[in-house]
Amino acid sequence: MKSAFRISFLLAVLIFSNDFLFAQNAVIIPIETKDNALILQADKEGHLGITYFGKKLGSQSEYQLIASQSRQRDGNAGIYNSAYTPAGSWNVSEPALQITHHDGNKSLDLIYVSHKTAKENDHVSLTSIVLKDPVYAVEVTLNYKTYFKENVTEQWSVIKSAEKAGIMLEKYASANLYFIAKDYFLTHYNGTWAKEMNPEQEQLTAGIRVLDSKLGTRANLFQPPSFMLSFDKPATETEGKVLLGTLAWSGNFRMDFEVDSYHNLRLIAGINNYASEYPLASNQEFKTPSFIYTFSENGKGEASRNLHNWARKYRILDGEGSRLTLLNNWEATYFDFNEEKLSGLFKDGKKLGVDLFLLDDGWFANKYPRNNDRAGLGDWKENVKKLPNGIGYLVKEAKAAGIKFGIWVEPEMVNPKSELYEKHPDWVIKQPQRPEHYMRNQLPLDLSNPEVQNFVYGILDKLFTENPEIAYIKWDCNAITFNAYSAYLEKSKQKQSQLYLDYVKGLYKVLEKLRAKYPKVPMMLCSGGGGRVDYEALKYFTEFWPSDNTDPLERIFMQWEYSYFYPAITHSAHVTDWGKQPLKFRTDVAMMGKLGYDIVVSHLNEKDLQFSQQAVATYDAIKDVVWHGDLYRLVDPKENDFASLLFSTKNKDRAILFSYMTGNRNGAGSDTPFRLQGLDPAKKYKVKELNLYPETKTSIKEDQVYSGEFLMTVGFNPAVSARRASVIVEISDAH
Ligand code: GLA
Repeated sequence: MKSAFRISFLLAVLIFSNDFLFAQNAVIIPIETKDNALILQADKEGHLGITYFGKKLGSQSEYQLIASQSRQRDGNAGIYNSAYTPAGSWNVSEPALQITHHDGNKSLDLIYVSHKTAKENDHVSLTSIVLKDPVYAVEVTLNYKTYFKENVTEQWSVIKSAEKAGIMLEKYASANLYFIAKDYFLTHYNGTWAKEMNPEQEQLTAGIRVLDSKLGTRANLFQPPSFMLSFDKPATETEGKVLLGTLAWSGNFRMDFEVDSYHNLRLIAGINNYASEYPLASNQEFKTPSFIYTFSENGKGEASRNLHNWARKYRILDGEGSRLTLLNNWEATYFDFNEEKLSGLFKDGKKLGVDLFLLDDGWFANKYPRNNDRAGLGDWKENVKKLPNGIGYLVKEAKAAGIKFGIWVEPEMVNPKSELYEKHPDWVIKQPQRPEHYMRNQLPLDLSNPEVQNFVYGILDKLFTENPEIAYIKWDCNAITFNAYSAYLEKSKQKQSQLYLDYVKGLYKVLEKLRAKYPKVPMMLCSGGGGRVDYEALKYFTEFWPSDNTDPLERIFMQWEYSYFYPAITHSAHVTDWGKQPLKFRTDVAMMGKLGYDIVVSHLNEKDLQFSQQAVATYDAIKDVVWHGDLYRLVDPKENDFASLLFSTKNKDRAILFSYMTGNRNGAGSDTPFRLQGLDPAKKYKVKELNLYPETKTSIKEDQVYSGEFLMTVGFNPAVSARRASVIVEISDAH
């Protein structure tokens, strides 16, 4: 319905759009993507609720019939389905927004005022809905940015106050959603250092299940802000209704999943309000981070491909671009290196055929040299004993060896044993009256302090200014936040409860400034592993370090789980000496991510070296499919003795199938074919095994041509077994 219409209870002027519908005087706002719809409807008092979430209808006019189909629309249901639940008034369930007004009053109500939809282009639109408290001058704008083709919605809120004096935000969610299904199955992740991304699926029951972090820096160490939610029954890769959700925020997060008394599900996702009351001055606004989600009726596979397509196109820095293969010296040398040793490693990297050499921790600090993790962090001057000629010399040497040069930094952190700590004890996050509490012998710097922001920016800016040819940065962050206290906030008469948020805001300011000057340099987001990966950080980083655990067996499981949320182009995966598997297995696993090496190349025997050189060349030939293709997870290692997954090009002319043994009981292996996906049934394909170890032969019949239909109906058997513990097969158009 396009005509303008007057709604008696609204005092404000309405902004009409094509998507604006009415039912019995109600405002109906459909938020649609290619396949899905979120339907918001204001009741007669102007309270905005969610009446529907799921597959979209062909005709928008039928959305007005939804509410009449529900027998739950009594007083309580009207509370539960709030599109942004205010606290302290008629609404008594878990709030999305809780505040204290300037006069100490804690009540809030939010009434629909207006909405508008602005099209950024044919695929991206932003619907903004304004809600207002009828008593206090507080206004909230709910924003829903939809990426039509990818079926992704990015949702955030903007809170404004025009009260006489400042108000206090006590809970300030990004998104508040409401789902109606028979049952709800939540998959969330737990872990710790070197054990990231262990999935757990549970059926939600009445009450609130909270996923959260209170760790501050490195917030995701125990739990990432990402989850899968299946409706009615647990979704599989190819079947079932499932939502993938993630909060784009590199700090404390909180997600409340509440099964209400109607057995409907309320979701409230945002920054964790733990110890984080946040002041909002008059006529200022507070913008929450984005909650990002996609929904599919066809299982987790489709949902994750949607998210990958969105992330590469719209979010990840250079998401559709290229990446550098590399040789890292961390496990090869740890802190023990000098110029000569490094020059040798440059040559090794060149011999291997990778694009870049990455110098890790240990290159800096003099008064307290960084020869172990107990000293030197914060003193970003080359260690004169190890590197008498500085970084500039290394960059030149690397260039002469024919390899690019990258470098490790951990700019947000300090060892108490450092000149930085001696000079600026007030830059450090610690409680002045309590003993310091360390993680890896270090403490975070106080990024809420603009001086510290400048210092952190300056570390990188100096490196780049002095050495414009630095081609890669690994940005680490190894400690969580204990004893959250900021000398800066105290001195500037701000609130200590701002620290957790202002830290993250400070970090983004630094990254923003850095990217304004150095827009392209690839950067790896590392946090002793995957301790802080999220979709806000990935605006600035090209890839992340999923875990310090590079045992290939563990990486198969870990990268499998990460792959629901982040595309393979972002998974830094290095061949190391972790694990008991042979070099081929370790390499094959790393090749399903962004390939790197962290081994002593000179220790490789002749055959291993020959294999690795071939592997780098093979990777160069398939990386485009891995980085930019569609991922299909075919055989789940959690339920089988092996894992198998496939990347295929968008036009389905080429696919790479990776298979790995993960169990070895009873002659385990792929005895029968399993169905492939992501091919064209009408196309004819040939198969070829890649990355064979020297002097081994494939057991795959490579002269056979198969139809896509055959491969996706009968299936294919890569013949993975204890004897062939990892197999990579290229499937390509036979014509
Ligand atoms: C962290 C990283 C490692 C390495 C070390 C260096 O643990 O995850 O890859 O860079 O720091 O100290």
